[in-house]
Amino acid sequence: MKQIQKLAAAVGVALLGCMSQSIAAEKVTYYCSAQEDWCQLMASGFEEATGIKVNMTRKSSGETFAQIKAEADNPKGDVWWGGTGDPHLQAAEEGLTEAYESPMRGELHDWSISQSESADNKTIGIYSGALGYGYNEEILKANNLPEPACWEDLLKPEYKGHVQMANPNSSGTAYTTLATIVQLFGEDEGFEFMKGLHKNINQYTKSGSAPIKAAARGENTIGIVFMHDAVKQAASGFPIKVVAPCEGTGYEIGSMSLIKDGRNLENAKKFYDWALTADVQSRSLEVKAFQVMSNKSAESSPQAPDLASIKLIDYDFKKYGSSAERKRLLKKWDDEVSTLPR
Ligand code: G6P
Repeated sequence: MKQIQKLAAAVGVALLGCMSQSIAAEKVTYYCSAQEDWCQLMASGFEEATGIKVNMTRKSSGETFAQIKAEADNPKGDVWWGGTGDPHLQAAEEGLTEAYESPMRGELHDWSISQSESADNKTIGIYSGALGYGYNEEILKANNLPEPACWEDLLKPEYKGHVQMANPNSSGTAYTTLATIVQLFGEDEGFEFMKGLHKNINQYTKSGSAPIKAAARGENTIGIVFMHDAVKQAASGFPIKVVAPCEGTGYEIGSMSLIKDGRNLENAKKFYDWALTADVQSRSLEVKAFQVMSNKSAESSPQAPDLASIKLIDYDFKKYGSSAERKRLLKKWDDEVSTLPR
C-alpha cells in the first residue's frame, strides 16, 4: 500500500512539474521600437488572441539594438517588433537574430520580402514610411517665420532654436535622417548640412517621434520625423503641417526579428506569424499609425502619406544597415557634429 502511495505521490509531483513548466512557458518577451500606444495594442492583442502572456519593453531602435547586443550571452528578449530596419539588419549581420521563414510570406509586399532576403531571413519588413518633417503653424506664424519646404530651408539662421530631431545613436528615425542626408547630398556636403542644422537644433531627443509630439504641445516649432508621425498629430487635431522635403527624401522599412537563443522561441514565432496577418496590421489605424503595412490586404487610411507621390531616394538599406557603415557614420556624427557649439 505504502509503495502505491509513494508511487502516486511521485507521479503527482512529476505531473505538477510538467504543468508548471508548460504554464511557465506560455509567455513571450517582446521588445518594441514603434510608437508606445501601438506597442501596447500589439501586446494586449496577442495576449487576447492566444492567452500567451507578453512582457513588453518599448525602447527606440538604436537603444533596442544595443540592449540585444549587450544581452547576447544571456538573451532575455524573444522577439523585436518595429523600429527602423537599419539596426535590425545590423543585428542580423552580427548574428544576434534568428532566421525564420514565416508561412505568412506569400501575403506580403515585395519590399518586405527583399528586406528579409537581404539578411538571410533574419528579419522581415512590417511597415514602410517616408522621412520628412512637420511644423506647428501657429508657432511659426507667431514668430513671423517663413514656411519651410525643403531640407535646405532648415539651415536658415532664423530657425535657430526652432528645430528638433532625435539623437541618431538612440533613434532609428534620426539615423535614417543622417543616412538620407548623406545619400542626397554626398558625404562631405551631407556632413556640412548636419553641422549647419546643428546650429538650429534646440534639443536632440532620445525617441524619434518626440520632436513632433513636442511641436504638437507647443514646446517646439519644427520636428524632423517620419511623415506619418506628423500626420498622426495633425489627425489628432494639433496645428501641425506635414512636409515632404522638395529635394526628395529617404524612407524606412520598419522591421521585425526573432532574437537568437530567445527562451520562448515557439511563442515568439507565433507572435511573428500573427503580427504579419492583415487583420492585426489593419489595427494600426486604431492608434493612428499611418505607415504602409507589409501585408498586401491590410487596410490603409486616406490620411496616410501617399508614398507614390513623394520623391523618394533609392535608399541603400544594404549599405546603411551594415554594421561597419552604421558604426562609422554614428562615430563621425558624434565626433564632428554633436560636439560643436550651438
Ligand atoms: C516611430 C515611427 C516608426 C519608427 C519609429 C522609430 O514610432 O512611427 O515608424 O519606426 O518611430 O523609432 P525611433 O525612436 O527609433 O526613432
